[in-house]
Amino acid sequence: MKSIVDQSHDFLKNVLHKGAICIDATLGWGKDTNFFLENKVRKVYGFEVQRAVYEKTISSIQDENFIPVLDGHQNMDVYVKEEVDAIIFNFGYCPGFDSKIKTEPKTSLDAIQKALALLKIKGRMALVIYPHKEGREESNIIENYLMKIDPHSFYIEKRVQLNQGRSPYLIGVEKLK
Ligand SMILES: C[S@@+](CC[C@H](N)C(=O)[O-])C[C@H]1O[C@@H](n2cnc3c(N)ncnc32)[C@H](O)[C@@H]1O
Repeated sequence: MKSIVDQSHDFLKNVLHKGAICIDATLGWGKDTNFFLENKVRKVYGFEVQRAVYEKTISSIQDENFIPVLDGHQNMDVYVKEEVDAIIFNFGYCPGFDSKIKTEPKTSLDAIQKALALLKIKGRMALVIYPHKEGREESNIIENYLMKIDPHSFYIEKRVQLNQGRSPYLIGVEKLK
């Protein structure tokens, strides 16, 4: 069985092409950014708030199509002025770095709202969510918001392991109109 991160990549892969504009909203070690770059897309914006993580990761990615941003994803509209094909969020903290620096419910929700506005029609967004004790409030806020969105405007699915309550899960979003 594929990991939830691999499943999130599979979900996004359909909308990647050589002109695709992508956002990695939580850069971390850069695995999602590298996934986009390996698919030979046109541009990848990568957002990260933690300077140590940011510097380590950008030093390991030598690619002219990568645009790293040392700022919170809640400000993505300041940096991204074009429609976007694919967006990924992988919430929580960066393993190996300061676990107290993690995504937070309010800024995550702000960022998701901005991401939905930036997506082009048929564009997709993947959210990898951790509903354990520290992530539960974030998970609830995100789901409560998404479940009220007009189903004619966005298709939104949740893929979760039914027999393992607190395991990470995937929400996939596609903009319909
Ligand atoms: C689970 S990790 C991301 C994993 C990453 N995608 C990878 O492939 O390694 C979450 C990252 O989000 C960062 N982060 C926390 N708050 C953020 C925010 N408001 N904007 C952007 N990044 C944030 C954390 O510092 C951490 O590096």
